[in-house]
Amino acid sequence: MIKKIGVLTSGGDAPGMNAAIRAVVRSGIARGIEVYGIYDGYKGLVEGHIVKMERSSVSDIMIRGGTILGTARLPEFKDPKVVLEGKKMLESFGIEAVVCIGGDGTYRGALALTNVGINCIGLPGTIDNDISSTDQTIGFDTALNTVIEAIDKLRDTSASHHRCSVIEVMGNHCGDIALYSGISSGAEIIISPEKGYDEAEILERLNELDVKRNKRHAIVVISEKMTDAELLAKKISENTGFSGRATVLGHIQRGGSPSAYDRVLATRMGDKAVEILVNGEGGKCVGIRGNEIVYYDIEEALNMTKKSRKSLYELQERLI
Ligand code: F6P
Repeated sequence: MIKKIGVLTSGGDAPGMNAAIRAVVRSGIARGIEVYGIYDGYKGLVEGHIVKMERSSVSDIMIRGGTILGTARLPEFKDPKVVLEGKKMLESFGIEAVVCIGGDGTYRGALALTNVGINCIGLPGTIDNDISSTDQTIGFDTALNTVIEAIDKLRDTSASHHRCSVIEVMGNHCGDIALYSGISSGAEIIISPEKGYDEAEILERLNELDVKRNKRHAIVVISEKMTDAELLAKKISENTGFSGRATVLGHIQRGGSPSAYDRVLATRMGDKAVEILVNGEGGKCVGIRGNEIVYYDIEEALNMTKKSRKSLYELQERLI
């Protein structure tokens, strides 16, 4: 029976990571396991920034955004020598297994460690919702709520001035934040990696909304890395009846107290991770399908393709 496990957060922080840490710590302790907090992701693991946690170490953290363990990106963890250094460090603490919370880079690190004999479980912690082995990642729901609060405010001022608000949201190479925030705020146009970027079509659509539909304002939600939002707003001013304004929401999307949904999701997933480790398994990652907590081999998960969002894009367009 496993006696000591570690928990770390890696990659971009996400609201709900703390709830997942709390669940791992308390679920481990409840099963008679010692739990160690590994600070600053794989960087802290290699450097030995590791501290034993008690039940009280995670009191009152559920409601807090960010991650109490800190996080970092360590590209060097792709190097097998660095992975072995990590394994040695864990062994020096007697840690036999680790729960790694983060995105797919975090999963790759967890798999590399498992392959050298340290059982690891990946939990999907990222606002981007870009992990195919789960319907929803920890942090996505909270980020969405933050985004729609901002869009609702921008709508008020846009409508007052006959403006078009171009709102850039995060998501890395995944359009889910743009799509879901666009649907939930009634955005006129959503631009995302899945949807593609056709400037002429966007300008034509806005002209149609202005002239034929007599719209007082328009909301364009655009995923980061598609184009320069300021430039698009300028083109909108020059080529349509709307005056364009750009707002880049940036890191505000990553902060804040997690939503109830993210807290419950993180809690269920954290507990499941410990259960899998207790059963002697490693190299797995936890997800949610429907309302069921499931898990897969990390290798299989990394090769999964994301479910198409085509029907959701069509739905949004039908309703505008
Ligand atoms: O993965 C989360 C995320 O916020 C992405 O949406 C974004 O592209 C990236 O991280 C930003 O990274 P950083 O905080 O390092 O600038």
